[in-house]
Amino acid sequence: MTEQQFIPKAYSKTVESGKVTWESPSNIALVKYWGKKKDQIPENPSISFTLNNCKTITTLTFSKKENAFDFEFDVYLDGEKKDDFKPKIQTFFERIEVYLPFLRYYKFKIETKNTFPHSSGIASSASGMSALALCLMSVEKQLIQADATLSTVERPVDENYFNQKASFLARLGSGSACRSIEGDLIVWGQTDAIEGSSDLFGVKYPYQVHENFKAYQDTILLVDKGEKQVSSTVGHNLMYNHPYAKNRFQQAHDNLEKLKPILESGDLNDFIALIESEALTLHAMMMASMPYFILMKPNTLKIINKIWEFRQETGLHISFTLDAGANVHVLYPKKESSEILKFIKNELVAYCQNGHYICDQIGFGAKLIKN
Ligand code: PMV
Repeated sequence: MTEQQFIPKAYSKTVESGKVTWESPSNIALVKYWGKKKDQIPENPSISFTLNNCKTITTLTFSKKENAFDFEFDVYLDGEKKDDFKPKIQTFFERIEVYLPFLRYYKFKIETKNTFPHSSGIASSASGMSALALCLMSVEKQLIQADATLSTVERPVDENYFNQKASFLARLGSGSACRSIEGDLIVWGQTDAIEGSSDLFGVKYPYQVHENFKAYQDTILLVDKGEKQVSSTVGHNLMYNHPYAKNRFQQAHDNLEKLKPILESGDLNDFIALIESEALTLHAMMMASMPYFILMKPNTLKIINKIWEFRQETGLHISFTLDAGANVHVLYPKKESSEILKFIKNELVAYCQNGHYICDQIGFGAKLIKN
């Protein structure tokens, strides 16, 4: 697959107006994406669990305009107009215009809401950008389907193509968003370890996965709900000329290779060692950047130490991962959830800002709500 394959033939019919709603989840990486090339191409492959409860619901209303000069859109979050969201979407539209040539011909209203609080420190870019990409794909699907005289090659709207292009577009909005279209394990970034993997879009993990990883739990401890001091964009860019970049990118390839037998056999101890190392390596890259920065907070470290102590004492398979922030994702198998959740409530929630946490688990991807 190359970018060219996502450029549609001219649309020969138009749809005057319409409305579509998608909900799309967040995801949490096990092997982390950190560092990118031009056009949101990742420096290394990554793999994530798609989440189930943390999601964005977006309704896109569209109507044909007279002229095709500028992009025309308004954005609403929880019913409130958000002009400060516009520059990000303007950039997104500019990046994807060549793949969705109808964009300039319609006026859009984008209404969005998240199931998690906006200021929770949980990035809404993965779920938000994937939900918007899916809504736009639904518009394109109508434009293409409207002309039944086209051959099926010219009407490539089967589910596989639809999801692939949605993931491709979402990537151009926010890299990790390309892993939010489907579930339950998604790989993004070309690597010999995973057949069919691509730098352009996420693909479903194609190999066998042990029962232990079904319905894996993710309790997100909200340690710091404030705005991050350093954005992911800045963090990715600091991987240019980073002294450890080359080794880190190779390590991600190696970790994906190592994860395959772990996912197949269900070896939870090896799984834990690999994902915790990935989380700490991500933050080590931040600390070793120039300028350097730290996104973990004292309570992040307290939680990590408590998790290690509890695991040592009980032998239960509790583990953690981190994204680019201070919050801790506590990961554990479903069958151990009653004891581990009790521990989280009794021992870990005290380290959360206002005692806030979110219970989530592996999910299966985005859903069309209304077309
Ligand atoms: O998609 P971005 O640019 O927000 O980067 C996400 C980076 C991490 O969350 C730290 C890792 C990942 O693979 O999701």
